[in-house]
Amino acid sequence: MTSPGEPVGVPGPEPGWVVEPMRLDRDLEGIVAVDKASFTNPWTREMYEWEARNSDVARIFVLRSPDGCVAGYCAGWLIFDELHINNLAVTPEWRRRGLGAFLVRTVLGLAAGEGAARATLEVRASNLSARRLYEALGFVQAGVRRGYYTNPPEDALILWLERLPGGPPGLGETDVA
Ligand SMILES: CC(C)(COP(=O)(O)OP(=O)(O)OC[C@H]1O[C@@H](n2cnc3c(N)ncnc32)[C@H](O)[C@@H]1OP(=O)(O)O)[C@@H](O)C(=O)NCCC(=O)NCCS
Repeated sequence: MTSPGEPVGVPGPEPGWVVEPMRLDRDLEGIVAVDKASFTNPWTREMYEWEARNSDVARIFVLRSPDGCVAGYCAGWLIFDELHINNLAVTPEWRRRGLGAFLVRTVLGLAAGEGAARATLEVRASNLSARRLYEALGFVQAGVRRGYYTNPPEDALILWLERLPGGPPGLGETDVA
């Protein structure tokens, strides 16, 4: 947790953009809206709220635009030295500007600062935009979960990144105040 006066968040590729830990009171609606615009099976408000309040391993970060809105988010679990990325999305109007890559790179760096050595995630086989993003960041395919997804049914590719880039420590906690 940061104290008043300390800098919060990691500055983005363009002025005013920042990645920072989710604040439940301020960011929940924005995350749910990005999710709805991005997935056929979005998580519910209650799922995010439960994660933020109850899970010691949950790490949820928002990509905040210069006007303070949630333009994207990345949700994962930090389990021992592994970061499991569960969800990632950038709102449609802000895609293809390098913000998704910035968000994931920043989260990887923050997880490394908390001791993570590697990262993993699942991605729909047909999700070429996300696959290209992960590939550009160094993730490689390690397996397939057949029929993992529903609506529509589809295989999941299991990706791993074996060496995380370094990053600043201490920004990992979700603020539930
Ligand atoms: C995947 C997602 C987060 C990418 O966000 P983004 O901000 O558009 O990504 P970036 O602009 O940082 O793109 C980084 C790289 O990813 C690849 N990429 C991203 N979108 C792409 C697209 N539509 N087509 C092809 N490549 C794409 C490119 O290699 C790109 O680099 P480039 O622009 O220099 O070519 C975004 O498309 C999204 O929210 N999709 C819906 C939700 C989703 O699929 N989440 C992933 C679940 S595993």
